[in-house]
Amino acid sequence: MPAVSSKGARMPESPIRKLVPYAEIAYKNNKTVYHLNIGQPDIKSPQIAMDAVAHHNLEILAYTRSEGSEPYREKIAAYYNRNNIMVNASDIIVTTGGSEALLFAMGTIADQEDEIIIPEPFYANYNGFATASGIKIVPVISKIEDNFALPPISEFEKLITPKTKAILICNPGNPTGYLYSKEEIESLAKIVKKHNLFLVADEVYREFTYDGLKHYSILEMEGIAENGIIIDSVSKRYSMCGARIGCLVSRNKEVIQTALKFAQARLSPPTFAQIASEAALNTPQSYFDEVIVEYKERRDILIELLEAIPGVQVGHPKGAFYCIAQLPVKDSDLFAQWLLEEFDVEGETVMVAPAAGFYSSEGVGKNQIRIAYVLEKESLIKAVNILKAALKEYRD
Ligand SMILES: Cc1ncc(COP(=O)(O)O)c(C=O)c1O
Repeated sequence: MPAVSSKGARMPESPIRKLVPYAEIAYKNNKTVYHLNIGQPDIKSPQIAMDAVAHHNLEILAYTRSEGSEPYREKIAAYYNRNNIMVNASDIIVTTGGSEALLFAMGTIADQEDEIIIPEPFYANYNGFATASGIKIVPVISKIEDNFALPPISEFEKLITPKTKAILICNPGNPTGYLYSKEEIESLAKIVKKHNLFLVADEVYREFTYDGLKHYSILEMEGIAENGIIIDSVSKRYSMCGARIGCLVSRNKEVIQTALKFAQARLSPPTFAQIASEAALNTPQSYFDEVIVEYKERRDILIELLEAIPGVQVGHPKGAFYCIAQLPVKDSDLFAQWLLEEFDVEGETVMVAPAAGFYSSEGVGKNQIRIAYVLEKESLIKAVNILKAALKEYRD
């Protein structure tokens, strides 16, 4: 049999999806599974976006421009301007989800074996995109005890080598829910300027901040126009994960020209989804206000219930809709599998994402899980109670 590539063999499994076969077994055994494992919001997509697709007047479902349709990019630029991010349509490349924006960004800024420093735990698919691009992720550990705040800048500086091309952050963070302060972003800006690096900020959860805190984007800052790249997406903002639309934003013309070549190679982002995403930009603020109140209430309940479980330590999210919980277990992979295969409370169990896959340092995060609070409150309460009962019964 012909052999697959060694790169393919090295591609990591998604820690979020790899337990799916065990969930299938749970379904076959007629168990109800509460999904705390995946960031698929249960919030309705804006009607305005659905209507735009239903009432389209296209006669040919044609390609669009590789960088995305002009009217859509103009409107995205206006959205950023409203958010104090002064860019124009020519600074934006529309992509097939934030995922493709990440791939294009890595392809644009780094060669084989170049290094990107990322605070961990981080969005697990960064591992996959880096492997696919032949790039080495150099992790800098952020700690649950510090609520996953930005590690000291001196820790980043220790890791910079001639191969380092960028620092990548996720703000607000998946899986930590940490929201970087303006001061933290400014300290990152200083270090990328000093060492002539790119600063890539995955800001797909920009709207989801709590406790009156405001997101501060890297491109709100003066002076890093050449260094800054934003990764963005409609998936979570409008609960439109299936649209598969995102974008890459930079004021660095060379970055945009280079990313555009990657975009040309895949021809264009999906046409219908751009129609939906363009319409979604007219979503009224009241939609977000309601969604944010809902997520905040869920977060508050979740954290309170988790902290009441003996031996559980939780990071306090200030944004996005995830948290990391440290459990009194040795290996959360085995625990998560056991929850699906062997445990239930009156026919109900939970599915969680083992957190080790959100780290690239070997052996770190093995006793942690990521919880996504994308279930309505009643189900969330039931799910945490099941987790509590499970921890009481489980033996490593
Ligand atoms: C931090 C982060 N970045 C990027 C993505 C990619 O999202 P999409 O490709 O759906 O835009 C996700 C999805 O969960 C995410 O959590």
